[in-house]
Amino acid sequence: MKKIQCVVLGATGVVGQHFLRLLANHPLFQVAAVCASEGRIGQRLGDVNALIPEGIPAESADLRFSAMDAKSLASLKVQVAFSALPTEVAKEVEKDLAEAGIHIFSNAGAYRMDERVPILIPEVNHPHLALAREQLQHSKGFIITNANCTTTGLTLALLPILPFGIRKLVVASYQAISGAGYPGVPALDISGNVIPYIDGEEAKVRKEVAKIFGRLQETKIEPMDWQVYAHCVRVPTLVGHLLSVHVEVENEPTLEQVQACFENYQPDRPVQGLPTAPVKPVVLLPEKNRPQPNRDVMLGDPVRAQGMTVAVGRLEVEKQVIRMIALSNNLIRGAAGGSVLNAELALREGLL
Ligand SMILES: NC(=O)c1ccc[n+]([C@@H]2O[C@H](COP(=O)([O-])OP(=O)(O)OC[C@H]3O[C@@H](n4cnc5c(N)ncnc54)[C@H](OP(=O)(O)O)[C@@H]3O)[C@@H](O)[C@H]2O)c1
Repeated sequence: MKKIQCVVLGATGVVGQHFLRLLANHPLFQVAAVCASEGRIGQRLGDVNALIPEGIPAESADLRFSAMDAKSLASLKVQVAFSALPTEVAKEVEKDLAEAGIHIFSNAGAYRMDERVPILIPEVNHPHLALAREQLQHSKGFIITNANCTTTGLTLALLPILPFGIRKLVVASYQAISGAGYPGVPALDISGNVIPYIDGEEAKVRKEVAKIFGRLQETKIEPMDWQVYAHCVRVPTLVGHLLSVHVEVENEPTLEQVQACFENYQPDRPVQGLPTAPVKPVVLLPEKNRPQPNRDVMLGDPVRAQGMTVAVGRLEVEKQVIRMIALSNNLIRGAAGGSVLNAELALREGLL
């Protein structure tokens, strides 16, 4: 099969470089173009500052930065854009490219709450892909977004316990500095410190969880009416957002029942076998002192899905409250890997 030609928007950033890594030797997609801020046009991708240990993949190192407009990208036969742009830039660019027929898989927050746009996490809400199909009635291309990196891990950790009937969530996050991109949080602010505020993050968790678990009703999503309370905190770890989660449920499950739900959880068939889909999207770790960012942030099997599995530990049940600690990789599952998985699903479902 001929690979789908794609562009990485924001290719010099932390998420952009993970896109390049995940798309290198990808069986379905090929990076044909890269874009970043205007001053980069014409520069060689391989000459940019590598922000991740794996560096810039050899197969895309000789690409030169293109102008970020539909005409330039069409001349490179680009059909799909993976966007790691700042939200304010994404707002204009993603809409223009989608109207011109380039399908967008975005990490930016610009269109997440647009009622025509799904926040897609395949294991959680693959039927919401129907919104992208609907967009094609009015536009040559569609926009599909990922959730904010904190929300993504939370939703996957909740999936196995949905059968108990969730009523209320109380979440506290311990978020890594890479979540703020490059150069991110000043070293003098975060070294040896904890910052109990991340602008806009708590509202994003609340709204996005409600939309992601919402019911698809023809052409829009009816948000879930759970009560959601979040505190989002920046901590001096490098990668991985850890969450302390209290869930109030309708039933009174036993610990054994909840453990069994985690152990028996399987992703739905439309997601199984996609190249970046982990065999187990959520794993329950039995050790008392896990999950830990330094040890568990790259969980995921097969190799292409490393960093896509959410680790859960410290599971406890008291009457109607289930408590746990969850960890997800903010750069892979919460960003680039999530978008690549969305594109793989869209292709399997005939949208590309
Ligand atoms: N980091 C995470 O954990 C995470 C997780 C989920 C979602 N996200 C979202 O993903 C997006 C990227 O995040 P990041 O952490 O990778 O940020 P980043 O490291 O700051 O990278 C931003 C990228 O955007 C480019 N850019 C900035 N201004 C531009 C402009 N005016 N025109 C074109 N390109 C421009 C930058 O290019 P230059 O280098 O040329 O300036 C760079 O490639 C953001 O929307 C963020 O909210 C991030």
